[in-house]
Formats: sequence, structure tokens, C-alpha cells
Amino acid sequence: MSGLVVAIDGPAAAGKGTLARRLAAALDLAYLDTGSLYRAVALALLRAGSGRPDEATATAAARRLDRRLLGDPALRDEATGRLASMVAAMPGVRAALLDLQRDFAAHPPDGKAGAVLDGRDVGTVVCPDATVKLFVTASAETRALRRHGELAGADAAPSLARVRAELVSRDARDSARATAPLVPAADAHLLDTSDLSIEEVFARAKAIIETARTRRS
Ligand code: C5P
Repeated sequence: MSGLVVAIDGPAAAGKGTLARRLAAALDLAYLDTGSLYRAVALALLRAGSGRPDEATATAAARRLDRRLLGDPALRDEATGRLASMVAAMPGVRAALLDLQRDFAAHPPDGKAGAVLDGRDVGTVVCPDATVKLFVTASAETRALRRHGELAGADAAPSLARVRAELVSRDARDSARATAPLVPAADAHLLDTSDLSIEEVFARAKAIIETARTRRS
């Protein structure tokens, strides 16, 4: 039987990354932040001066993805996230990044027995046969407060209103696109984290995974 695959999807700043990292550490699984791939494509384009790339240019950048960019602090910039969500709507870009994500899930690195992947379309497109699918959400207010808190202290940190507007417009673009839109898979477990602590979210997700694990063994 193939390894355990946990797919975690949801809108921006819903707490997917924190949850995915904790689950991967606790269950000794490999972790892939699929959003960082789209961000790396965006950052490569920004650095090349292509702030408004056409699909052919963006697809070419995705095909020659420079993995060193995955560790670049500018990956987390607001401008990088915005362009990531624009290029993520391009089918050519998504196709160029698909094999890499599927390969990670099928052959997790470092001899791990499975993988946790987070993003927007992991449960619907990348790993439709994932062992467990979680769709993590939170209200726009909660998500804006969290993201604003993360950015506090950074140079030129944006206002709360601006962070909220940016999240809402990114979610709208991610949900409305024709290819691999942000939607919960039919068999995903919904986790609304608006009124839950990180501990509570983690405990619920872990219980769902343990149940699924018991069923398949
Ligand atoms: O999760 P993160 O904010 O880093 O993702 C940046 C952008 O990458 C998202 O707004 C989305 O447009 C895109 N993305 C995607 N599919 C994924 C992961 C991210 O379209 N699986």
C-alpha cells in the first residue's frame, strides 16, 4: 500500500501551514508547502522584471523553477503572494508544477512513510486519492488579524484593512479561476479555525488522521 498522504487545503492565512508543519513533525511525515512553488515562480518573474507576465512567460518560469528561491525571504512578501495567485490561474503554470507535487506525495523524501501537502487544490487535483483531506477555513476577520500579526514589526507593515482587502481579493481570484479553483473536495473534513486555538485545531486534525489510519490498516 502506498504511504499516508494528508491533503490540507483552504484560503490564505487560515492556519494551513502551521497545522501542516505540526502534523508532519508529530507523525514523522514529509511536508510540502505547495503555495511556495507558485510564490517561487512569481518571485523569479518579479526579479526578471516581468510583473505582468503572459502565460507563455510564466509557464517557462515554472518549468525552470529555481529551488533556491524557496528559501528566499522575499517569497513571503505581499507582492509575491499577489503575483503568485495571478500566475496560479494559468493552466500552463499549474501543469508545469503538477508532477513535482505528485512525485513528492508518491515518493516522500528522506525515507518518510508519507507526506503532508498544503495548498488550494491538493485534495481535488494533486492528490485526489489522499488518505485524509482537510479543508481549513476561518473568517476573513480572523485571517486578516492573524496575517497582520505576522507582518507586525516588518518594515512598512500594511494596515489591517489593507491586509484584509488583499486576502479577500486573493481568495476571490483563487476561487473563481477555471483551473483547479479553491473548493473543498467532496470527501474533505471541514475545519473552521476561527474560534479554535492552534492546539485545538491540531488535536482535531490528528484525531481525524488517526481514525483514517486505523480504517486503512
Ligand atoms: O498559500 P500561499 O498564500 O503561499 O499561496 C500563494 C498562492 O499560490 C495562492 O494565493 C494561490 O493562488 C496559489 N496556490 C494555488 N494552488 C496551490 C497552492 C497555492 O493556486 N496548491
